[in-house]
Amino acid sequence: MSILRPRVPPPRSLARPPEVSSGRRGPPTGFPGPDATGPPLVPHGGGVRHGGGVHLEPTYPVDTARLVLRPLADTDVDELLTYRGRADVCRYLPFEPMTRETLRARLGADLSRSAITAEGQALTLGVRVRDTGRLVGDVVLFFRSQEHARGEIGYAFHPDVAGRGYASEACSALLGLGFDQLGLHRVIARLDSRNEASARLAARLGMRREAHFVRSEMAKGEWVDQLVFAMLAEEWPGSAAHRVQQRGRGTAPGRATDG
Ligand SMILES: CC(C)(COP(=O)(O)OP(=O)(O)OC[C@H]1O[C@@H](n2cnc3c(N)ncnc32)[C@H](O)[C@@H]1OP(=O)(O)O)[C@@H](O)C(=O)NCCC(=O)NCCS
Repeated sequence: MSILRPRVPPPRSLARPPEVSSGRRGPPTGFPGPDATGPPLVPHGGGVRHGGGVHLEPTYPVDTARLVLRPLADTDVDELLTYRGRADVCRYLPFEPMTRETLRARLGADLSRSAITAEGQALTLGVRVRDTGRLVGDVVLFFRSQEHARGEIGYAFHPDVAGRGYASEACSALLGLGFDQLGLHRVIARLDSRNEASARLAARLGMRREAHFVRSEMAKGEWVDQLVFAMLAEEWPGSAAHRVQQRGRGTAPGRATDG
């Protein structure tokens, strides 16, 4: 995989940190809202581990013990529809069940991105089971702030595969990209407090539950509580997610030394 390296000059935008509210309402979870590919959210100042821009472009596929992660493509639309089109999957996500048309449009834009080159961007990776080739979910890493080296993760999986640890495994790899390759200092997960499976997942990864904001988000017509989980770069090597990621590196075919 490539390492973080300066490529693009830091934009000079004026905005706000992503974890505090502003006139621009962010999604209640880590998933991209309609404007996820919009302008950077926060001012730039320093860098993550660098003085210039950023570039995260993993070598694909990103392998884990049982899974293969890679950017989504137009050809994934039918499989994406099987879970992103479901009301139960989208219940706590900041969008309604997606139609084929919505998915096609998103695949033509942010969902097929294969690199992060500036803050405000998100890298969504489709998650396939190596043995069957089935697309079972997707995970997303947001680069929220260059100045504060902050990122965020999100995830959605098909209910058919719940309870097998696939989301934990994929998110562990994603945290590895965020900390080891993008050089993030802090990664958060934001979720609706009613989303118990998601809270269990964040805790299982080793993220710390830091905040419970009461009725802080308007989600699908109602005020909902939001939880914030977080992990710092110095916590990553000792985390449960890191152990899962390391196991994957040891077992994935041909990728034993990749991050
Ligand atoms: C959130 C979501 C990804 C969690 O899925 P999940 O199946 O519970 O998570 P995992 O794939 O990591 O599986 C973990 C479960 O499998 C079990 N498990 C079995 N084998 C495992 C393994 N090898 N490794 C880890 N866990 C394993 C765990 O004990 C755990 O069960 P528990 O939650 O009952 O304790 C899923 O519910 C989802 O996609 N929801 C809809 C979208 C959504 O709400 N996204 C979150 C927005 S914030």
